[in-house]
Amino acid sequence: MNLTPNDVFQKCYDYERLEQVQKAGLYPYFVPLSGHVGAEMEIEGHSIIMLGSNNYLGLTDHPKVMEKAKEAIDKYGTGCTGSRFLNGTLDLHIELENRLAGFLDKEMVITFSTGFQSNMGVISTIAGRNDIIYLDRLDHASIIDGSRMSYGRVLKYRHNDLEHLRYMLENNRQHPGVIVTDGVFSMEGDLADVPGLVEISREFGVRLIIDDAHGVGAMGPRGRGTAEHFGCHDEIDLLIGTFSKSFACVGGFAAGPARVMEYIKHTARTMIFSASLPPAAVGTVIAALDVLEQEPELVSRCHKAAERSRQGLASMGFNVGNSEAPIVPIIVGDEVQTLMFYRMLYQHGVFTNPVVSPAVASGGEMLRTSYMSTHTDEMIDRALDVFEKCGKSLGMI
Ligand SMILES: Cc1ncc(COP(=O)(O)O)c(C=O)c1O
Repeated sequence: MNLTPNDVFQKCYDYERLEQVQKAGLYPYFVPLSGHVGAEMEIEGHSIIMLGSNNYLGLTDHPKVMEKAKEAIDKYGTGCTGSRFLNGTLDLHIELENRLAGFLDKEMVITFSTGFQSNMGVISTIAGRNDIIYLDRLDHASIIDGSRMSYGRVLKYRHNDLEHLRYMLENNRQHPGVIVTDGVFSMEGDLADVPGLVEISREFGVRLIIDDAHGVGAMGPRGRGTAEHFGCHDEIDLLIGTFSKSFACVGGFAAGPARVMEYIKHTARTMIFSASLPPAAVGTVIAALDVLEQEPELVSRCHKAAERSRQGLASMGFNVGNSEAPIVPIIVGDEVQTLMFYRMLYQHGVFTNPVVSPAVASGGEMLRTSYMSTHTDEMIDRALDVFEKCGKSLGMI
């Protein structure tokens, strides 16, 4: 293609990182999966232990969940072809919202078409011109983008550093404010100090929103999330979540007081100007919720698999950070070594997620591993053998 002077496409032709990694044979992204995402599955013709999925409860191929998705297609067809606001609300969406409100014990739940859109919609509507949004520095991209889309001013405190947050709040007492944080931090698997945040938000009269994309369905005795894990589920102001992880599908939600939810429902651009969740997705999530309510032990099973791996990796000498969720990072601290480790594990039958800058700060490069209720002890032990072999051969342990 011929580029014009000052061409906006110039940056695409200057972008060389991709080719460099591909030439080195280390490109790890967009790997095509050709079957159900299970604890052990086929990828590119090989059997592989999947430690790179967010399918925490292992429900993506649960028979009851698949059946309900099929029933929803039979009854409602494949799509709604419009936003919830106008022509895209099914009675099934309302059933799901009511079911979730009951499960979470919140006044009202609204659903969005992705978790990303939930954060974008909620934060951009709640934070107005004079307001301050306090973010943890490691918050998810969708929280950051939702904050950018709002008219509010963004202040970022150091990761989980409530003294830093307090300092910012003290200097901005005259402004209405909202704290928004991941409940479970998605790469590191560590938790926000939710009780501390509840206390500080009360003290300064600001609101607290927890995005618990990796917490709902994976944390707390009933799977209601990180705040439930800490015993303060009723004390957070809004809870945001996704259906793309424990709920085995795609979509997102926000839960909280009816008056606030109604406001967001009628003003959030990502709700009003984007098509609603398709019937199969809604059916899937309702069925996943049925399973979670009937079998809350799936949550602890998933933690058991993570704990077995965490302990095994730590005892081999890997740096596994401070994770408490079914996410266990292996902090490598170097991009090339991270990609080499990923590639070697993959070739030996273990799938992980390499995480490099800008997803983590330079020096924090890691492999992210995540666990499902369907991982058996035998699978974890087999994966641990591979980690040990590959880690030794790369001189990492
Ligand atoms: C913390 C957090 N929030 C929001 C999202 C976005 O969720 P979704 O995949 O449903 O768009 C993710 C997904 O990676 C996440 O990790």
